[in-house]
Amino acid sequence: MKKHLLSAADLTVDDVATLFTTAAEMHDVQHREVKKLPALRGRTVINLFFEDSTRTRSSFEIAGKWLSADTINIAGKGSSASKGESLRDTVMTIASMGVDAVVMRHGASGAALQVSQWIDAAVINAGDGTHEHPTQALLDAYTLTRRLGTLEGRHVVLVGDLTHSRVFRSNVLLLATLGARVTVVAPPTLMPAGVETWSKDVGFATSYDLDEVLPTADAVMMLRVQRERMSGGYFPTSREYTVGYGLTRDRLAVLGPDVPICHPGPMNRGLEIAADAADAAQSLVLDQVSAGVAVRMSVLYHLLAGEGGHA
Ligand code: ASP
Ligand code: CP
Repeated sequence: MKKHLLSAADLTVDDVATLFTTAAEMHDVQHREVKKLPALRGRTVINLFFEDSTRTRSSFEIAGKWLSADTINIAGKGSSASKGESLRDTVMTIASMGVDAVVMRHGASGAALQVSQWIDAAVINAGDGTHEHPTQALLDAYTLTRRLGTLEGRHVVLVGDLTHSRVFRSNVLLLATLGARVTVVAPPTLMPAGVETWSKDVGFATSYDLDEVLPTADAVMMLRVQRERMSGGYFPTSREYTVGYGLTRDRLAVLGPDVPICHPGPMNRGLEIAADAADAAQSLVLDQVSAGVAVRMSVLYHLLAGEGGHA
């Protein structure tokens, strides 16, 4: 593996296999009474979050703690960034304290890459603007692999606000590496500019018609409508979005009971996903959260354990 985890494109098939093998071992730790391994004793991991998070930040913190690393959380709000300190000064300050890894989420696409060029510590991208969220894609693929076996040749359908989704961007890259057949579905207004070229380069299909694609899905991943990143109207009304692109009760019936449903969270219940779908027996939403800890333990372990850092 590389020193940093900035993009799902950084990961080879072998990297993913190694990460998943370790994640499966780490997953068992979750069910132990004493959830502690000594692997990262003496290492320090900083969670530096300039955007809100429930799952990613807490699971990285738990992952670090269960591996015996010292984990410290710094939020943009409440840090000296709110006094006008630049990102460079903030991370140089943190790096000067001698940390081993910085897990960072930032509103600017490319922020994690930029930081990796400034400091020596390993940088893990926990979401940079609308660009990427590689550990989310890893935990999604890990969860789906556990349910479906191999993803090779499986048809994975991603639906939603693709324009603003870093989960979409990391997922199509990783799913392509793992040999899945991928179709992404969105209304024309939420289909990213330039997707025609990118979809050919990466190898995925695009569609505006969810009802045509759904019957052929082996797994469905619903993505959140990201209102906080929208400056104008991307669809006339919430109701119209749901009618066209929501995983409604009717579409759940079309899907049948065996097709797994994923959502990275947080969910807009009633908008992109009906409660019946979110809470269905085939919903993997909470399995994704649980896998998130194991996968992040695996990532931290492979980047930080061993001689002088990344293994
Ligand atoms: N939590 C994910 C992210 O931060 C997905 C989302 O917010 O919709 O990208
Ligand atoms: N899926 C995800 O990244 O969730 P948070 O934004 O809550 O971390």
